[in-house]
Amino acid sequence: MLPVRLDRTRAEPLPAQLAAAVRALVTDGTLGTGDRLPSSRALAADLGVARAVVEQAYDQLLAEAWVSTRRGAGTFVASGETLPAPPQPNRPATRATEYTHLDAGTPWIDPRQLAGWRRAWREVSATTPPRGYPDPAGLPELREALAERLARTRGLIVGPDEILLTSGSTDALRQLLGALGPGDVLVEDPGYRAAVETIRTSGRDVVDHPALAPVTDLAGCAAAYVTPAHQHPLGRVMPAADRLALLAAARAAGAVVVEDDYDSEFRYDVAPVPALAALDRSCVAYVGTASKSVSPGLRLGWLVAPPEVHERLLDHRAITHDTPPWPSQRALLTLLRDGWVDKVVRTARRVYADRAPRVAAALEPYAELAGPLAGMYSTWLTSPEAAAAARASARAAGFEVRLLELYCRTAGPTGLVLGFGGVTDAELDRALEAIVSGLRGR
Ligand SMILES: Cc1ncc(COP(=O)(O)O)c(C=O)c1O
Repeated sequence: MLPVRLDRTRAEPLPAQLAAAVRALVTDGTLGTGDRLPSSRALAADLGVARAVVEQAYDQLLAEAWVSTRRGAGTFVASGETLPAPPQPNRPATRATEYTHLDAGTPWIDPRQLAGWRRAWREVSATTPPRGYPDPAGLPELREALAERLARTRGLIVGPDEILLTSGSTDALRQLLGALGPGDVLVEDPGYRAAVETIRTSGRDVVDHPALAPVTDLAGCAAAYVTPAHQHPLGRVMPAADRLALLAAARAAGAVVVEDDYDSEFRYDVAPVPALAALDRSCVAYVGTASKSVSPGLRLGWLVAPPEVHERLLDHRAITHDTPPWPSQRALLTLLRDGWVDKVVRTARRVYADRAPRVAAALEPYAELAGPLAGMYSTWLTSPEAAAAARASARAAGFEVRLLELYCRTAGPTGLVLGFGGVTDAELDRALEAIVSGLRGR
């Protein structure tokens, strides 16, 4: 008889358990090619189950070609050539050590605001979804609410019909690249890794440009991807002269400047730096995101493209329906209308305004701050050895902090990029203690 045990307390049906047991006997070599399996009657009696259980298991194994039947002779283990590839042994996945990430992109979301978030989703569930495919530009009421917000918070005067809803910044970039003519894409170095990945995936070459140097020539480029309000990850605000030079270079080359305005609302010293798109809409594609103000999980963003590109994208989207899901758009509409987003941004700004100087006070004796204190992360320049020691010390305390070199393609600055949005105050204190102890040990 077969060395098989069935367990009636398990949720898995008995035929499935039996089939799995026979497969295991074949793969571990207990049963070999041509071995005869017991008759269904005998095995059922032996296991104390109904004969139908064994028949079902044998039928399954036959369908999967683990066994074959010969009329009147019984059921046999199939020959090697017809055996399906043995399943990989169920090794427990090797678990990476769980660290608390000091991630530069994770915002602080005030847990006290959860009630408003839930209210918005209740409203979504009570709303009838559109019967057909939704507006290719995105929900019209949401575009209206965003136009109002962009004027109020970014000095960007646009009509709702000039806005396209996207599934976040990288989706906006991906769609834009699909609508532009041939050419490379200039990207700041160090720079945003998701943008680099998106550009490369689109089949275009990335032109590495030193992040703090003015862009004066875009010949051969279809676009330049920049973060002028808060260079990612060095933190600098693009100086006025560099903004004008960039726009002039784009106009001369017929290229589009992609302005990634990811966290400009989180300035706590001065008012947000005006958007580049407010200076010249003809060659700037403005990209905004709900990832910092609401949640990266919402996967929503917006794009204000130069008029010609906008029309091309709209035509494309009318065919492909390449728009973000309607429920997320509907929820964001409620969150904006309720004043929830404004409230969350205000509280998060206060939290960052408190944490950023704490980080600075801890690290300043050992490292050099790369840009002004703004947003939900700060970047610290140190020697590679000091950065590595700080990272190792943070890890020993259970925290993961990123090295600046991760954001560099050819550029050479070294140090740490330290996010302080996605942790609690207590976690931040412990992480800082560990990082400082690593830096001090150097
Ligand atoms: C430079 C930059 N741009 C954009 C984003 C947001 O991207 P998405 O809108 O795709 O979530 C982030 C998030 O970390 C970022 O760091």
